[in-house]
Amino acid sequence: YGYGKSYNSFKIKDMNQQLLVLIKPDGLKKSLTGNILARLSETKLEIVAAKMVRVSRELAVEHYKHMKDKPFFEDLIKYIQGELHDRRKVMAMVYWGDNAITKVRQLAGATNPEEADPTTIRGSYGRITTKGLYENVLHTSSNELEAEREIKLWFQPEDIIVDLYPTKVIEVKMEK
Ligand code: CDP
Ligand code: MG
Repeated sequence: YGYGKSYNSFKIKDMNQQLLVLIKPDGLKKSLTGNILARLSETKLEIVAAKMVRVSRELAVEHYKHMKDKPFFEDLIKYIQGELHDRRKVMAMVYWGDNAITKVRQLAGATNPEEADPTTIRGSYGRITTKGLYENVLHTSSNELEAEREIKLWFQPEDIIVDLYPTKVIEVKMEK
C-alpha cells in the first residue's frame, strides 16, 4: 500500500461554441458564397443565424474598433462597407457547435492570404491589394469573448434560433 496521485478518468465534454462569420464584399463579388458555405459545411457545425447586411459606417467602426490605430483602418472600413467592390453588403452568419471557433479558423486560414495554406478558404481565394490591404473573403471571430461581442453587435436575440446568451425582456416605446 501507499498512496499517490492518479488521473481522474473522464470524457472531455464537447465544448459548444458560437462565432460570427462574415462573407466580405470581395467574397460576394467573386461569387464565392456557395463555395465558402460548402467549405464551412465540412465542419458539420450548425448555422443558427444568417442575413444579408448593408454595413453602416457605425457598424464597421464598432466591429473593427480594436484596429483603429492601424494605418489601414480607413481602407478596412471602406472594404467591409463594400466601397472597394461596389457590393454594399456582407453575408453575416452565426455558426454553432463543438469547438466551432478552432474548426472555422482552421478552414478559413491565416489572415494574410499569401501566408495562408493554399487549401484554406483565404489561401484559395484571398489576395493582397496593391495598397497592401488583405482582401481575405471572410471574417471569423477569433475567440469566445470576441465572438460574444460580435454576435451581439450584428444580431438581435430573436434573429438567432437558439438561446446563446441570457436575455431580458425590455419595453420599447415607439414614438408616434
Ligand atoms: O480577420 P482576422 O481575425 O484573421 O485578422 P485581424 O488581425 O483581426 O484583422 C482584421 C482584418 O484586417 C483582416 O481580416 C484583414 O482584412 C485586415 N488586415 C489587413 O488588411 N492587414 C493587416 N496587416 C492585418 C489585417
Ligand atoms: Mg480578428
